[in-house]
Amino acid sequence: MKLRYFSHSAFQLITNAGKRILIDPFLDENPTSPVNSKDVNADYIVITHAHGDHLGDSFKIAERCKSIFICVNELAEYCKSKGYNAHNMHIGGSHNFDFGKVKFTIAHHGSMTPDNKYGGPASGVVISADGKSVYHTGDTGLFYDMKLIGEVTPIDYMLVPIGDNYTMGITDAVKAVELVSPKNAIPMHYNTFPVIAADPNQFKKLAEGKGIKTRVMDYGEEIDL
Ligand code: NI
Ligand code: MN
Repeated sequence: MKLRYFSHSAFQLITNAGKRILIDPFLDENPTSPVNSKDVNADYIVITHAHGDHLGDSFKIAERCKSIFICVNELAEYCKSKGYNAHNMHIGGSHNFDFGKVKFTIAHHGSMTPDNKYGGPASGVVISADGKSVYHTGDTGLFYDMKLIGEVTPIDYMLVPIGDNYTMGITDAVKAVELVSPKNAIPMHYNTFPVIAADPNQFKKLAEGKGIKTRVMDYGEEIDL
């Protein structure tokens, strides 16, 4: 499986069988994204919550690629109300798709759609495919139950926000990776806007000091998991 990072919280997983799973594709209005939404394809689009910097360009991409949304029930219903296909899930639930398994987790955050409708609770997501599990925390503050998430599903890659203000900052993000104990941590949700400026290498230094291998991905970089 491959993991591609577009910046902010936008990632794409590409399975060995070629299935493309896009997560929180905030691209065209994202000053740090090296790619435009028209150049990104998706079979599935996972949205952690309805804020504009996560729902992003997903409708444009879904329109073109006939992608299927995977999100919590309220947000899935919102996507359906706009004419898109969605698989409704909810926190704590998992489901096997043709590419692998998706499980939703809690996240301490809000979720309002761009047209000011309630998007259901914010979530995180664990995606397991090709023998690897990736935990995208979504936007969240630190919570102790992260420990359970890592105990129930050993995590290979944890994608963790470090930008502060709306989410965990570096200090709490280091605690978060200690709780989950993933094989690798990847920082996200930083430097997109001045208010979430953070140094990913400072996070790397502190997380590695706690024994968590950390990879700072470049914007547009793709790695083999
Ligand atoms: Ni948010
Ligand atoms: Mn956000």
